[in-house]
Amino acid sequence: MRTKADFLLTSTEGVDPSRVPSRTLHTGALMPAIGLGTFGSDHVPPEEVARAIRGAAVVGYRHFDCASVYGNEEVIGEALQQVVKAGVRRDELWITSKLWNDKHGEDDVVPACRNSIADLKLDYLDMYLVHWPFPNYHPPHCDVTSRSPDAKPYIHDNFMKTWRQMEKLVDLGLARHIGTSNMTIPKLRLLLRDVRIKPAVNEMELHPHFQQPELFEFVRSHGIEPIGYSPIGSPARPERDRTADDTVDIEDPVIVKIARRLGVHPAVVCVMWAVQRGQTPIPFSTKREHYLANLQGVVGDPLTDEEMTQIAGIDRNCRLIKGQVFLWKEGQIWEDLWDLGGDITPP
Ligand SMILES: NC(=O)c1ccc[n+]([C@@H]2O[C@H](COP(=O)([O-])OP(=O)(O)OC[C@H]3O[C@@H](n4cnc5c(N)ncnc54)[C@H](OP(=O)(O)O)[C@@H]3O)[C@@H](O)[C@H]2O)c1
Repeated sequence: MRTKADFLLTSTEGVDPSRVPSRTLHTGALMPAIGLGTFGSDHVPPEEVARAIRGAAVVGYRHFDCASVYGNEEVIGEALQQVVKAGVRRDELWITSKLWNDKHGEDDVVPACRNSIADLKLDYLDMYLVHWPFPNYHPPHCDVTSRSPDAKPYIHDNFMKTWRQMEKLVDLGLARHIGTSNMTIPKLRLLLRDVRIKPAVNEMELHPHFQQPELFEFVRSHGIEPIGYSPIGSPARPERDRTADDTVDIEDPVIVKIARRLGVHPAVVCVMWAVQRGQTPIPFSTKREHYLANLQGVVGDPLTDEEMTQIAGIDRNCRLIKGQVFLWKEGQIWEDLWDLGGDITPP
């Protein structure tokens, strides 16, 4: 029979969580500067993700990036419960969840957060994010042509109604921090003008071929920590998030060359670069050797200044998660979701 001690028995390869770098949020709280993603890209079963949570906790991960729409919070909750029972204190964990797009209504936010807390078998979340700034529901596993029949654009007054409820979550002690995801500079400018409690983080796509330098600098200059999703370039992303023009970070000659020097997979170089640049990557993996290598990478010898400069030079502005399913009217292109002209795309 397994005992508490067995479960937490960290192999010699594991990383002491106190060695993992952290980010200081505007509240003074410390968030581990690498987390484990939990989106199974519509094909990795919940049980496999939950197994990875347990395994990742054993090798030293303390930060887990969850969301109700990933459809696995209940089983992840069981895994987290085991992690805590095995001796990891709740306050050593950093658990994020996210409000899905069909729950932006004023009466829906608090119950949605309570649901995630209950599913994850916690008393509170460390971070709760508005997953997308659009209230447009689309079902899991849908394809790229899927559109919500009552899709809406970003309407700031409506978003603020949602945000007031997010602030209430902090007042109620349900979420220690709140944040945004998939935002743009013009949307964040308005939000920052009107908030009572500002976002602690903005979760955004960030990998060597999509570095978003302007948004990255903008959030940091406003005391908002950038969390980098799809940090490896999401090689197993769903079909709806693939187009012919997409580039592949882990095949980039610069990344491959550095990986060879270090004797690691190119994915590890992407994760190392992310932490060293200043974002918090949340790589997904259910394979022990992979999530362990990613964690070991961020506590090992850093990339050289020259390598950091070389990686800064391979940005291809290649957004992978384009969000087509959130478009709200005929004839639009995905770029309309991202306010590329510097103003919020008109309704
Ligand atoms: N806020 C949002 O809207 C949003 C959007 C997308 C994603 N996310 C979050 O970000 C997380 C990560 O993004 P992602 O899942 O799209 O992609 P990702 O982390 O860039 O890539 C994950 C893929 O990389 C592979 N991998 C990981 N480490 C590896 C290693 N050391 N060596 C070789 N292969 C490795 C994994 O395969 P194996 O499993 O085989 O190791 C998996 O297929 C998600 O899980 C989710 O939590 C958030």
